[in-house]
Amino acid sequence: MFTITNPGESDITSAAKALFGGALVGIPTETVYGLAADAENEAAVARIYSVKGRPQDHPVIVHIGSIEYLNKWAINIPDYALKLAKEYWPGPMTLILERSKIAKNFITGGQETVGLRVPAHLTTLALLKEFHKLGGNGIAAPSANRFGAVSPTNAEAVQSELGEFLDESRDLIIDGGQSLVGVESTIIDCTSEFPRILRPGAISIEMIFGTTGLMSKPNIDSKIRVSGSLEHHYSPKAKILLNGKVGPGDGFVALDYVVTPEGAVRLASPKTLEEYARILYAVLREADKRGINRIVVIPPEGNGLAIAIRDRLARAAR
Ligand code: TXA
Ligand code: MG
Repeated sequence: MFTITNPGESDITSAAKALFGGALVGIPTETVYGLAADAENEAAVARIYSVKGRPQDHPVIVHIGSIEYLNKWAINIPDYALKLAKEYWPGPMTLILERSKIAKNFITGGQETVGLRVPAHLTTLALLKEFHKLGGNGIAAPSANRFGAVSPTNAEAVQSELGEFLDESRDLIIDGGQSLVGVESTIIDCTSEFPRILRPGAISIEMIFGTTGLMSKPNIDSKIRVSGSLEHHYSPKAKILLNGKVGPGDGFVALDYVVTPEGAVRLASPKTLEEYARILYAVLREADKRGINRIVVIPPEGNGLAIAIRDRLARAAR
């Protein structure tokens, strides 16, 4: 496997060619790293599933280089979805829309919808631009972790999650530095009259309502499947206890102002919600490396990004 650090123009061109030729490429995004394949290449997408150890019926997000590719993949796009795309792309937001003919069952998990996103990372935008030039319409990219594990937020974490399952002779990992947001994109179901959040992220309810003037009530009956909403997900090897009692040698994560309980190993002291989201997954990974068995985490309070952080922590703790 080889990781490309400080990718230059020619590296990006060759990575685009590799992708278009059916290879898998670990890509940086502002949320988390993805494991990418040509979204129209069934064999390549099948390899994503086997490398991740992911069940077949889970849909993958299609990443596109710009809003112009929206119409290739989706039909009957509601006005509010267009407003969201114009306002927040490139950015940490995935729109679920009615699929076009090119969005095949192997992308959508057999559903009539497709997930689309323009990621905000310069290297990956450049890669997408080159990929589109070659005639590709989009790249499928779930987070670059084994199924159920913590998403990687840097290239080294992709290597340690998936390196042994990738093919050294043709697959690549592109090192684009630390992911700046740190938690996965907000997923918004845009198949009804009102937008509905399926997975919270950096694009908040307030932002969506601010842009569209619309928001559905939470609907637990939604038939749309989202693997990120499985009860148990984003889990490190260590046991995570939310607001739990700290024992000797336990890891401890909380906002900076929270005092470290006696005997605990302070793993992180983020000063803001943004910093909390950015470092969270790397901290969980680091704790596993250090052989820490239990981590007591104090989830942040409040709205916006705090909701996304609490969502991921709750699942990791189950
Ligand atoms: O931030 C992100 O979204 C990252 C980066 C790499 O872009 N990607 C990511 O992908 O988190 P993944 O596959 O780990 O999670 C994508 C979620 C899954 O829970 C999947 O079920 C949901 O998106 N999804 C994708 N297409 C869908 C569809 N057509 N309908 C409903 N859910 C969909
Ligand atoms: Mg994932």
